[in-house]
Amino acid sequence: MQVAWFGKKKQKADDDIDLNHIPRHVAIIMDGNGRWAQRRGLPRQAGHSAGSEAFRRAADTLARLGVEVLTVYAFSTENWKRPAEEVSAIMRLLDKYLHESVREMQEKNIRLYFFGDLTPFSPELRKLIAETEKISETTTGMRVNVCLNYGGRDELTRACRLLAEDCEKGKLHASDITGEMVESRLYSAGVPDPDLLIRPGGEQRFSNFLLWQLAYTEFVFSDVLWPDFGEKEIRAAIAEYQHRKRRFGGV
Ligand code: FPP
Repeated sequence: MQVAWFGKKKQKADDDIDLNHIPRHVAIIMDGNGRWAQRRGLPRQAGHSAGSEAFRRAADTLARLGVEVLTVYAFSTENWKRPAEEVSAIMRLLDKYLHESVREMQEKNIRLYFFGDLTPFSPELRKLIAETEKISETTTGMRVNVCLNYGGRDELTRACRLLAEDCEKGKLHASDITGEMVESRLYSAGVPDPDLLIRPGGEQRFSNFLLWQLAYTEFVFSDVLWPDFGEKEIRAAIAEYQHRKRRFGGV
């Protein structure tokens, strides 16, 4: 194995990753589940099931590397257009994941939060979500944001509506609205913006994901389908991120 040394602290590198320069916040579009299943002659649902296992593995890997926040796109505002049986299969996987999480969160010390409009979900699913968010008040490790019935446009529309309501009530003047005020009305209020967005599955777009928050995020695309996206691919994405020069609009 190649051993390299990085950074002023001369910390031993973990393969080609500089452990002093791990992204604080990683966002992932978990794409390619359907194709993964179809290539194996399996129903698309089998791909989502494999995808949810890939998600668990990715969360473990990223937590071990010291990432503070992971945000995943699990179900978009547009995903309702999929066949009803596929939508139900994803809901069953979420239900299973949440049941297991209620048991595992303390053991793994993770915090679990949800971004999106949860009103269309079943009362049982919403109760489980509330329970996991309650447990998150007692855990201190990596924060995982699961985007559910989430769309970047929907999130921004909601923020505009909240600001307009404050204007109507006379609490705010339209001319006083700042970027910080918009930010504080997003699902991600208080969470640092993603440093790195990973999209497996071969597509190179961001599909209505975190439209505000991705303004200065580094993108890494991969042809590997999400269920096959393991530790090796995650480390490669972080290594690529570490070669980027981030300027945030400066020079
Ligand atoms: C995109 O792949 C994936 C989804 C729309 C669903 C993602 C859901 C999971 C990984 C499982 C549930 C999540 C959790 C957090 C337990 P695609 O179906 O668009 O794939 P394709 O492009 O190959 O058709």
